[in-house]
Amino acid sequence: MIRTGLIAEVRAVVGEERQRGKKIAIVPTMGYLHRGHLSLVEEAKRDHAFVVMSIFVNPLQFGPQEDFGRYPRDLERDSALAAEAGVDLLFNPPLEEMYPEPMLTLVEVKEIDSVLCGRSRPGHFRGVATVVTKLFNIVQPDLAYFGQKDYQQVQIIKRMVRDLNMPLDVRTVAIARAEDGLALSSRNVFLSPQQRAEAVVLNRSLEEGAAAIRGGERDARTLEELIRTRINAESSGEIDYVEVRGAADLKEVTEIEGPVVIAVAVRFGATRLIDNKVIEVGTDV
Ligand code: PAF
Repeated sequence: MIRTGLIAEVRAVVGEERQRGKKIAIVPTMGYLHRGHLSLVEEAKRDHAFVVMSIFVNPLQFGPQEDFGRYPRDLERDSALAAEAGVDLLFNPPLEEMYPEPMLTLVEVKEIDSVLCGRSRPGHFRGVATVVTKLFNIVQPDLAYFGQKDYQQVQIIKRMVRDLNMPLDVRTVAIARAEDGLALSSRNVFLSPQQRAEAVVLNRSLEEGAAAIRGGERDARTLEELIRTRINAESSGEIDYVEVRGAADLKEVTEIEGPVVIAVAVRFGATRLIDNKVIEVGTDV
């Protein structure tokens, strides 16, 4: 595995691979890798691509009161995991390489960036869309892989790629979960044992919501209330949101008729966890 922090080197290596006829894949991450990240690499390998993984904790997507400073980092461990998973090139740029001067150009995907997580994290998705655009421009991938756990992020990136005619395919990979169902997240490391035990309620309440839909419930507000009640009953977590929205456009839904996403965000102390479930009426996706 090649490891570099330099944009010029990424371009040179990727250029050669492309000349050899290889498809180029990018797996953008902020590091502190877990099985979820590695499943993105697996998918990319399955597609026979030359896999570039980026590890960059992007300050642009953290609010002033958020956890940029304490976001977990362990580059040596990540590097070993990435190599083992079959990453071909690990790009871990220092801050000055990505942002040598203050950014005057920002990428904003309106409307869908201001609901759900965007409402509680203003500017977050502008930071994500901007850094992902930079990474796409640096690597010029044919394929990009993102985890479904960050459902809104994936919808925003897909929309950005469509709106700006970016020549690549965005692939969504299913949420990787711990045995008890908790969605894997680099931030899980911050949970106390008690919070970790309680956090299973996110997935459980989503399962309950899905079961209610399968059982015929079609009222979005009733469903949200059901999930809220379960989270409050079984955890000390503070609910940020529980919302049922259109799966493709994230628009508000009253009566469930087509594919929807049930999305939840819950704070356990300073740690904010998210999870979601996409449901076609009649079938889980
Ligand atoms: O999902 C993440 O880890 C980040 O938001 C991303 C896509 C790597 C951009 O910094």
